[in-house]
Amino acid sequence: MKHENYSYVEALRYLAKKYNIEIQESAQTSEELKLLNEREALLSLSTFACEFFSTILYENEEGKSVGLSYLKERGFTDSTIDVFQLGYAPQQRDSLLNYALKKGYTLDNLEKSGLIIVKQKEGSILRYDRFSERVIFPIHNFSGKVVGFGGRILTSKDKNHAKYINSPESAIYHKSDILYGIFQAKNAIKKADKCYLVEGYTDVISLYQAGIENVVASSGTSLTQGQIKQLTKLTNNITILYDGDSAGIDAAVRAVGMLLKENLNIRIIILPPTEDPDSFARNNDRQQIVDFFSDNEKDFIQFKINLLSKEAGKDPIKKAEFINQIAADIASIPDIIKVSLFVKQCSSLLGISEPILFRTINKIRIKNYKEGSNEKVNESQEVNTNSTINKPLRPIYAELIPLNLSDVEKEILFLLVNYGSALIYVPTENKQSEEKALPMRVDQFIFNNLDSDTIQLETPLYQQFINIYADIAEKYPNEIVNQLKNHPDKNIFSLYLNLVDIKPLPSPLWESPQIKSFINTIDNNKAKLHEYIVRCLHVLRLIKLRAIREKHEQELNNTSEIEDISMILKKLVDVIKVINEIEKALGVTYR
Ligand code: CTP
Ligand code: MN
Repeated sequence: MKHENYSYVEALRYLAKKYNIEIQESAQTSEELKLLNEREALLSLSTFACEFFSTILYENEEGKSVGLSYLKERGFTDSTIDVFQLGYAPQQRDSLLNYALKKGYTLDNLEKSGLIIVKQKEGSILRYDRFSERVIFPIHNFSGKVVGFGGRILTSKDKNHAKYINSPESAIYHKSDILYGIFQAKNAIKKADKCYLVEGYTDVISLYQAGIENVVASSGTSLTQGQIKQLTKLTNNITILYDGDSAGIDAAVRAVGMLLKENLNIRIIILPPTEDPDSFARNNDRQQIVDFFSDNEKDFIQFKINLLSKEAGKDPIKKAEFINQIAADIASIPDIIKVSLFVKQCSSLLGISEPILFRTINKIRIKNYKEGSNEKVNESQEVNTNSTINKPLRPIYAELIPLNLSDVEKEILFLLVNYGSALIYVPTENKQSEEKALPMRVDQFIFNNLDSDTIQLETPLYQQFINIYADIAEKYPNEIVNQLKNHPDKNIFSLYLNLVDIKPLPSPLWESPQIKSFINTIDNNKAKLHEYIVRCLHVLRLIKLRAIREKHEQELNNTSEIEDISMILKKLVDVIKVINEIEKALGVTYR
């Protein structure tokens, strides 16, 4: 099914035919059968029409003198015309109609395929060919079946007629799911693990002829989910190649938005202002094209920054707007690792600090997430379940939000001061014990954890505060607050004031609806308080362990003794194991 883009039934039939197996079709409902028959009838009719147009192009006088000479003038070779099965629809407006009827195709199917237009006029019914006096671009589906046609007018001066007309939607032609050229391009796309995306029929054909075969067109519409799905079967690397004019740039911007959401790697090439891919492909040879592409390929951040900074100039308000726009783009990327890479890049290009960018991005993600989850409830089943609404960043994406050790240490102090004497229920490790959880004071729990890991806070004042707190807790367990409030050391006293004053919690680490919700309910929800403390302690451990990991990695770089290396590696493996466990507990997933 995947390979040929068949439905289940079509795949069965295909295989049955290939291996000479008879299949019973009685299991199908009459509805299914009708649709299947209609699809097959339309497919066969399209193939027939395609052959008709192509025969006219090569064998009919008008076809040769008008159609073929037009294509030749545009520089298309016979072999290209053959690969894309180009054709010509003659002037006579019932040529296809009559020929098809003569060959036994039904009026009904001719209408359904859109090849024939039907009109009521003064009581009588008019039927005529949709395509006439146009060169024909058959549109193939993923498996190479002709499903529709585009027809180009021969003169571009004729303002009364559209340059292109296309087949209407039918049982076999869903415009939004089709990419022009996908059948001819699919092997090359797979091989190169990359696809160029252009706008028009002729862009595809000229590039193909120039030797760039991994190219498809969205056919003048903005890109759809369905089209993207066809592409992602083949590659995740898409390079948008749109005209250098402003309409082309607008289209590129829209396409980028769509593609980012699908987690694709997007690059953009803007052609010189007077060129489209078709002219560019004809004016240059393969090597020149390849060189130009590789010199001018930009990732989307560079593209947007170039584009928007041109617009924004030096106006600070515009600049802020445009940073928000880029942040919104980055926020729509599902892959967290990519987000962090783009943030790094964007931060250095724009001179904005990473934490600020992260906070902006995360706010947008939270907003999108909330809006997205509301929408989901209301919309019908038909909603594309593939569309990704990105969850807000979990708070402890330590790789992403630069973790600040002293912030986390302060968080621990905050918990001590505000919840120290509260009781939480700590799961017992003794499996024999009747009770699953035992009550424990928060300060006791924190001290136990710090002690068992021999963690000292690295901010001297904070460690001093902890020592004083522990001292007081031992001597006057019920008077801690009083003692701190009246502490003679001015630094300790003001730190205390600062800690009771912090609300909500200070660090950007906790900017997530999940965490906020348990901060809000912390006073009456012991389980959440417990979880929160555990998380804080985990983060603290994580930072320390990462520093140790880094130290070992440094050592590894600096040593060449085999024995040392193996000893360091052993340590490194141990540390990484614990880091992984903690990251898992914190809900971080790494690729
Ligand atoms: N298109 C269309 N209907 C139109 C105009 C355009 O369907 N009236 C689609 C076609 O798929 C076309 C694409 O949009 O290929 C891009 O349009 P445009 O750039 O105007 O045409 P080109 O492909 O450049 O065609 P040509 O080079 O023959 O002018
Ligand atoms: Mn063109």
